[in-house]
Amino acid sequence: MTDQLIAPPAVEAPPASWWRNAVIYQIYPRSFADSNGDGIGDLPGILSRLPYLRDLGVDAVWLSPFYSSPQADAGYDVSDYRTVDPIFGTVADAEKLIAGAHELDLRVIVDLVPNHSSDQHEWFKRAIADGPGSPFRDRYHFRPGKGENGELPPNDWPSIFGGPAWTRVCDPDGTPGEWYLHLFAPEQPDFNWEHPAVRDEFKTILRFWLDLGVDGFRVDVAHGLVKEDGLPDVGHEAEWHLLGVGESPCFDREGVHEIYREWRKILDEYPGERIAVAEAWAPTLARVADYVRDDELHQAFNFSYLGTAWNVPAQRQMIDDSLAAMRVVGAPTTWTLSNHDVVRHSNRLLQTGDGEVAGRRPTAVDPVAGLRRARAASALMLALPGSAYLYQGEELGLPEVVDLPPEVRQDPAFHRATGQDGYRDGCRVPIPWSGTEAPYGFGPEGGGSWLPQPDSWAQLSVAAQEGVPGSTLELYRAALAVRRGMPALAPTDNLRWVPAPDGVLAFERAVEDEPVFRCTVNMSGRPVAVGRPGELLLASGALDGTADNVVLPPDTTVWWSIQD
Ligand code: GLC
Ligand code: CA
Repeated sequence: MTDQLIAPPAVEAPPASWWRNAVIYQIYPRSFADSNGDGIGDLPGILSRLPYLRDLGVDAVWLSPFYSSPQADAGYDVSDYRTVDPIFGTVADAEKLIAGAHELDLRVIVDLVPNHSSDQHEWFKRAIADGPGSPFRDRYHFRPGKGENGELPPNDWPSIFGGPAWTRVCDPDGTPGEWYLHLFAPEQPDFNWEHPAVRDEFKTILRFWLDLGVDGFRVDVAHGLVKEDGLPDVGHEAEWHLLGVGESPCFDREGVHEIYREWRKILDEYPGERIAVAEAWAPTLARVADYVRDDELHQAFNFSYLGTAWNVPAQRQMIDDSLAAMRVVGAPTTWTLSNHDVVRHSNRLLQTGDGEVAGRRPTAVDPVAGLRRARAASALMLALPGSAYLYQGEELGLPEVVDLPPEVRQDPAFHRATGQDGYRDGCRVPIPWSGTEAPYGFGPEGGGSWLPQPDSWAQLSVAAQEGVPGSTLELYRAALAVRRGMPALAPTDNLRWVPAPDGVLAFERAVEDEPVFRCTVNMSGRPVAVGRPGELLLASGALDGTADNVVLPPDTTVWWSIQD
């Protein structure tokens, strides 16, 4: 492996902005903290736990949807974008939460779900009730069926959650009528983004939350809003997953970018750098970079990285390619290893040695080995230039829960066997805060939790790890503290690889071309001795060694300060 300085930025160095290297913590509201004992997390629960997040050292939180919703897809089916679902609280609770976060210097990003609404949204209800010809049908994709009596779906698109992407409606007189498009569950009809009312509506929704003080939006299915004209068939092999689909009539169409240019203007009208982060599962990094051109959104999750195998060539290539792709548009890379849709990386990185995307079907792994690798991976990610998203519970080293019985599972795709997802409940189990029995402080004693927590989670609770040297929580706290305190970790263009033994990844971060920080990751599967380049700042696992050498056990990451 040769010393290699990454090429200088192709565009002028962008100004320092809070989000360029921010660490943002994803809160999945129903599973974070329950204030009233109904077993479902809520906004007052989150408010009460904000000091924990400040002490963890993150810069911002992203909240998955808490809007009014029948919860057919855990809130990603929104029936009213300007209200809070009673299970989570009220708009006043949201305001208190935003204010409370700001007092602690935490920014707040909320989820925006523009690809589809709930089938209980006022517009969709009108579209059904008013029957064929209703102007509300134009705001969605209604089409007559094929076949003699319209009994076949209008095209061959499958739903990501399994089955066809079309459902036939009953007309007000009870006869079978038109079909409507839903790329996800039937309860999630896709909006027609060619309709001006849809575009206007979302601009006012953006303003509603911006006026309430949010610092940004995570844009759900950001690559899906615009469909190819005429909704053409894709052929007999119609099947797609969110990532790596190549050309598709419903994902990553050129037309989505115009929408984000309009949104960017709105965001820029507000003070304090309000941002948007795209959930865009585009087929290549270059296509992902299109979403973060300087007149579009600010960040886009790097899902290619999330799906990268745990070995030196794959990781190094992906890091290089990611930095290079984003450099072209002057945007930072947005790293992430876990979220509410994928198998927790404490399982996934062992499970998908071949780097298969999201490791959709979780399987049990040796929990000790899984956690060791996850800690090493997180320490690697947090040493990379750019922004990083954490998913609640990863800082506790929570494993994927792989043995949830079918009757408690709520992922809408679970019972649609052909769907892409369906196994997402295992990463959504409520957080253990304290105590020796479920719900482990998630809610009031005796309150329960909407998904059962494993018996073994007492030892993973926040209380069990706080202040305990070597705990995963203390590892994350230390990493975030170093990140904040070290100016060399802020720039996004100062990574250079350094030579390392086989199976070891090593890079430095430089200030004015002088390396001041080094990250060394042992992916070799055996203990490896490395020289001490400077002062040890952080280690993801216990080390052996001498005054000159350090022995890194397998799956261990260390950070060094190499300042004179
Ligand atoms: C996004 C969300 C996922 C949801 C889907 C449909 O992928 O992250 O949870 O099911 O969109 O809204
Ligand atoms: Ca509750």
